[in-house]
Amino acid sequence: MSDYTQFIDNVKKKTGIDLSLYKEAQMKRRLTSLYEKRKCRDFTEYFELIRSDRSMMDEFLDRMTINVSEFYRNGQRWEVLDKKIIPQLLKQSKTLKCWSAACSTGEEPYSMSMVLSNHMPLREVSILATDLDQGVIEKAKVGLYPDRSLKEVPADVKKKYFTQEGQFYQVKEEVKRSVTFKKHNLLEDSYGSGFDLIVCRNVMIYFTEEAKDQIYSNFAKALKPGGILFVGSTEQIFSPDRYGLESEDTFFYKKL
Ligand SMILES: C[S@@+](CC[C@H](N)C(=O)[O-])C[C@H]1O[C@@H](n2cnc3c(N)ncnc32)[C@H](O)[C@@H]1O
Repeated sequence: MSDYTQFIDNVKKKTGIDLSLYKEAQMKRRLTSLYEKRKCRDFTEYFELIRSDRSMMDEFLDRMTINVSEFYRNGQRWEVLDKKIIPQLLKQSKTLKCWSAACSTGEEPYSMSMVLSNHMPLREVSILATDLDQGVIEKAKVGLYPDRSLKEVPADVKKKYFTQEGQFYQVKEEVKRSVTFKKHNLLEDSYGSGFDLIVCRNVMIYFTEEAKDQIYSNFAKALKPGGILFVGSTEQIFSPDRYGLESEDTFFYKKL
């Protein structure tokens, strides 16, 4: 068994996270530069370090998850969500069950809430937001962001839903109240059901084909007929019909 394979086994036992379902070359490169920084010679030594030191474990989790996000990421897609997809969903159902999966530090679910508020009172908006990493969930709950995270936010939305605090922007309480954050591992945990809208963006790129296949199939089962899966702008699904999905617009898939 290679040093890395043993590491994968140990991490799975210790944290429940299965690194074998993430693309190997990419993950190995990231983790190798991290263990070298910590003066370890190989993955065996590195596992000893993260096992015995909580801050090193946190650093490892932080590196393996990649948390970059921003509000209204790929702005044009959010226009389609606002102008086409949400009105279509509201024709089917007055209330929408929405999930932001792999939500990172909260920019995505808060953007969903802001867009949905164009169509219904904000107090009626309810979004489930989940991520594997408890650290990013805690940051998301605080809701404080640097200017660069807001570069795609329309000016009127910025004015309405943020307060400026020095160099940072604070998401207003009324928006925060519409989002419920929970820890959830897309590779392990059960998915709910009856969702009208699932947004899962910029995480599938890290998974193996086998893992992606399982996740898309789980999302399709979790959606209502007519429900929509919104994916990242490099994550087009090859043959969506395999999962009982069809393309509704670029990067939007409808459950048949
Ligand atoms: C690059 S961020 C994407 C954030 C946001 N969706 C966006 O598009 O801006 C990827 C997120 O996926 C999360 N992630 C990685 N593996 C995961 C898993 N197995 N289950 C749930 N979330 C995971 C990471 O913790 C990270 O916050």
